[in-house]
Amino acid sequence: MTSGNTGFGVDIGGSGIKGARVDLDTGEFIGERIKIPTPQPATPDAVADIVADLLDRAGWTGPVGITVPSVVQDQIARTAANIDPSWIGTDCAALFSGRLAVGGVPREVAVLNDADAAGLAEATYGDPRAGEGAVLLLTFGTGIGSALLVNGTLYPNTELGHLTFAGTGSDPVDAEHWASSAVKDREDLSYRRWAGRVDRVLEEYRRILNPQRILVGGGVSRKFEKWGPHLTVGVEVIPAALRNRAGIVGAAGAVRDGIRP
Ligand code: BGC
Repeated sequence: MTSGNTGFGVDIGGSGIKGARVDLDTGEFIGERIKIPTPQPATPDAVADIVADLLDRAGWTGPVGITVPSVVQDQIARTAANIDPSWIGTDCAALFSGRLAVGGVPREVAVLNDADAAGLAEATYGDPRAGEGAVLLLTFGTGIGSALLVNGTLYPNTELGHLTFAGTGSDPVDAEHWASSAVKDREDLSYRRWAGRVDRVLEEYRRILNPQRILVGGGVSRKFEKWGPHLTVGVEVIPAALRNRAGIVGAAGAVRDGIRP
């Protein structure tokens, strides 16, 4: 069970709830990652039941870090773009510490935004450039998640995937409704065409934030060699190192470090 610097992180996504033990010295998983399909509707109670099941399967009774695809302030979910709207206003700490109690004792939990967790993990365990200076991490998946870091310290809940953007039609769109990897799949865009959209989104972020570099994560970062070369944005863009481990690892680190946005 808990030994030395071992933690546990859970990443709640639109299609799967994933969790693993994490070696907090190295940022590596210890043993298998467990994945359970996200219940539909993904209400807070239904999700908490799955997280309890996942921890039972893993035999983990220690502190747990948990990510949600929402703005989290004072442990309260404030938005729900890609999850059930009933999350808005939910006290996530109360929900999970109660549902995951061990022998009647509330569980120690930390709940944070999924991209924020990924950013913290990359800054701590990833490419050393992720922890230096002003860095923007973006995750491309169902949506576009963002984490803004200065020398590894997080400015939480930036939600840049919702920056309104000109897009291709006549009406402005959220960046994530135009350039997420889900949109790439849905519209069957080639890497080159999709990269053109990503390029324009990155250029907008560069224009207003001027980060020293942008890290790109999410499943599609594994194929970075197919689309990275098409980017022309005037800032260094590098693929995130932890890929889809980042949310789980960042969550596990957050509960150890007492990071509760
Ligand atoms: C949500 C963010 C989340 C991102 C990636 C967006 O739709 O608003 O909170 O980080 O998706 O999951």
